[in-house]
Amino acid sequence: MSTTYGTFPGSRPRRLRTTPAMRRMVAETRLHPADLILPAFVREGISTPAPISAMPGVVQHTRDTLRKAAVEALEAGVAGIMLFGVPEEAKKDAAGTAGTDPDGILQVAIRDVKAEVGDELVIMSDLCLDEFTDHGHCGVLDASGRVDNDATLERYAEMAQVQADAGVHIVGPSGMMDGQVGVIRDALDQTGHEDVSVLAYTVKYSSAFYGPFREAVGSSLQGDRKTYQQDPANSRESMRELALDLAEGADMVMVKPALPYLDVLAKVADTVDVPVAAYQISGEYAMVEAAAANGWIDRDRAIMETLTGIKRAGADMILTYWATEVARQL
Ligand code: PBG
Repeated sequence: MSTTYGTFPGSRPRRLRTTPAMRRMVAETRLHPADLILPAFVREGISTPAPISAMPGVVQHTRDTLRKAAVEALEAGVAGIMLFGVPEEAKKDAAGTAGTDPDGILQVAIRDVKAEVGDELVIMSDLCLDEFTDHGHCGVLDASGRVDNDATLERYAEMAQVQADAGVHIVGPSGMMDGQVGVIRDALDQTGHEDVSVLAYTVKYSSAFYGPFREAVGSSLQGDRKTYQQDPANSRESMRELALDLAEGADMVMVKPALPYLDVLAKVADTVDVPVAAYQISGEYAMVEAAAANGWIDRDRAIMETLTGIKRAGADMILTYWATEVARQL
């Protein structure tokens, strides 16, 4: 016997891998610029962009450079931009009031980007208090220092309204409070913003990979978010979060982080009939950049492989700090 193909002598999967053209033809997953969403940080009171050391290549934008980044993303064919505001340190307080100030940095940034790109690029905003609170939590605290779910919901309702007033197309509640999608949907509907969509951070794990983001937004957090973000050990719980968010009116759902949770992403994508997003977060970005900077991996191939894997697992949209760069290559 010269081969071990005894049963199926003609079956040789390698035939379909012989040339680049052949591989291209049979590829099951293709990335497209419109799959990509660029998360971007804008910081109040700076006159030049501030590099984020743990995210080489990513900056905290000035209002001006944010506008330019939005135009570049649009020109590259990126689908949307997700905005995060970084207020002046002195403006942080226990209730995160800068997050609901119509002239707060995030609202100002939404108006700036809207004025620049209009409806050409989908404009999204992080709807969460952690960037604006002096304790760094995603909500307001009760007397014992615990994040108060229902008091936080009232703050989120206000945030939804000011972000929508500023012209955002989609709000992205990321705080993992129970009931947040329903409260935000009601607040939007009651203030004449029926057309503003909710991209729910439905499945959001308490992850070590958010580390670099804390630097990116100048977070004041001491401790962790384990009482409101999900435990990495759990999968079934994600289905419960998903059912609740859909019942509360989520237009789109997100799984976050991406790479360590592709199993959950695949399950969500198989379950729902709404668009599914995945967020390739700061630590996922930093990991690849750091290894590449050391010459340990091929940066460009690694980036494409991670994004292809996320799409293959079922994501319709991917939030990635490489969005503009990758869109240009596609
Ligand atoms: C909360 C929020 C976080 C991220 C997006 N929205 C931080 C957190 O939950 O601790 C993380 C994004 C990233 O790490 O790239 N406002």
